[in-house]
Amino acid sequence: MKELSFYQITDLHLYAAERIGSHGRAYDLKAQSDQKCMKESVAIVKAAFDAMAADKDTDVILISGDLTFDGEKASHDLLVEMLTELKRSGKRIFVTTATHDYRMNARCYTETGAIPVEKYPREQLREIYAEFGWNEAVAEHPASMSYAVKIFPGWRFLLLNDDGPEGFCGYSDDLLNWIKAQAAEAGRDGERMVAVTHHPMLPPAKIYPIFSHGQMLCGFETTAPMFADLGIEYIFTGHTHMQSISHLDTVRGGRLYHINTGAITGYPAPYRKMTIKPDGIDVKTLNVTSFDWDLGGLSVDAYMKEHFLLMLRTIFDTMEHDHAAFKEIGAAFAVNEKAVDLFGPLLTLFGKIVNGLTFGGLGKLLLMPHTVLPAVKNKKVRDFLLDLISDLYSGIRRYTPDTPEYQSFLPMAKRLGKLVRLSDYYGNRVYLEDLFEDLMTNVKEEDNTNAFLPFESKK
Ligand SMILES: [Fe+2]
Repeated sequence: MKELSFYQITDLHLYAAERIGSHGRAYDLKAQSDQKCMKESVAIVKAAFDAMAADKDTDVILISGDLTFDGEKASHDLLVEMLTELKRSGKRIFVTTATHDYRMNARCYTETGAIPVEKYPREQLREIYAEFGWNEAVAEHPASMSYAVKIFPGWRFLLLNDDGPEGFCGYSDDLLNWIKAQAAEAGRDGERMVAVTHHPMLPPAKIYPIFSHGQMLCGFETTAPMFADLGIEYIFTGHTHMQSISHLDTVRGGRLYHINTGAITGYPAPYRKMTIKPDGIDVKTLNVTSFDWDLGGLSVDAYMKEHFLLMLRTIFDTMEHDHAAFKEIGAAFAVNEKAVDLFGPLLTLFGKIVNGLTFGGLGKLLLMPHTVLPAVKNKKVRDFLLDLISDLYSGIRRYTPDTPEYQSFLPMAKRLGKLVRLSDYYGNRVYLEDLFEDLMTNVKEEDNTNAFLPFESKK
């Protein structure tokens, strides 16, 4: 007998490069300022689809939104063709859509620049993806394009679209009532519940809601405990492009496991396979290890990491050496050109410090040179920060408490925290050393890549 198992793949950001173009300076700038691999996306997604098609033990695939790069009609059309082929291999596919599927500025990139291209209106997405989820629905919430499916006997999955027509990324009161009604039906029928949605309900790292509170699911502070208390035990999310697994316990004894999966077209090309065991769900991360592309002799992991770090290195380098290029790349992050001109010398100085500073130098600057261990005295702070950022995306934490980086940097972060006072979205004090400790080592119960997540004992 087959084990009950399913895949999650998310944030495909498929861009139909061969059909609409990926050339010229506008493309280079776009690709350079993006974590995702844009023109390679079709080959990467195809490789993941082929790997899932070859797995005859697992038929179910969940796809949690951001199907296309920026909602290009050509990319949707290509994806429907690819999904149709995947379905023909015997798979049952369940998708939700998200902002990048209809709300963004869809462009093609040619020698003449970035040119607007045709998009599908939001309502039409349900129609073109109907056979990848909606056709198996046992209930629907039409306004949000959310639906419920009984994928396995005794299991109810809620595919929740959080990019509602209201223009915010969360659930309307009407959708929340529909979710409550679904939970009541599942309770009556003795079914376990799983939710799938695009935006995260729990942050992938402590630092995330400090700088990206608006990227969390709107109202997550109340929705996450509500889900746990409704008996929804697992939620699968995307959007952050980061790998994390965590849980939330409520005062009423509910527990919600939050599985946030990185973008398949971003470093490190992850997707997940879940196996339902008698006492819980086993989560395993898989990564694309080859795709049809000239990788210049690199492994997929090294190639995609190189692309990701190129963006960050370019920002650091141009900050110090080339403000014209910094302005061009910064436009993607809403950097104000006038501010760059106004604060040019300061920007150069900041770039110099970030790029040149070593652990030893930072120790001296903070008047605590003896806390820096000899093994990392000459380590560049910039390289360390790049490691932390790439680990945030891969979910791996390499700077465990036994490493000289952890032992040397944490006291410095503590002192820095006294100089730079940080608050969260609600004005509560946040300690820099807590944020860095969380980035350096896993401070949670669950590993971010692979974990066994037991059922609630009360069931
Ligand atoms: Fe995304």
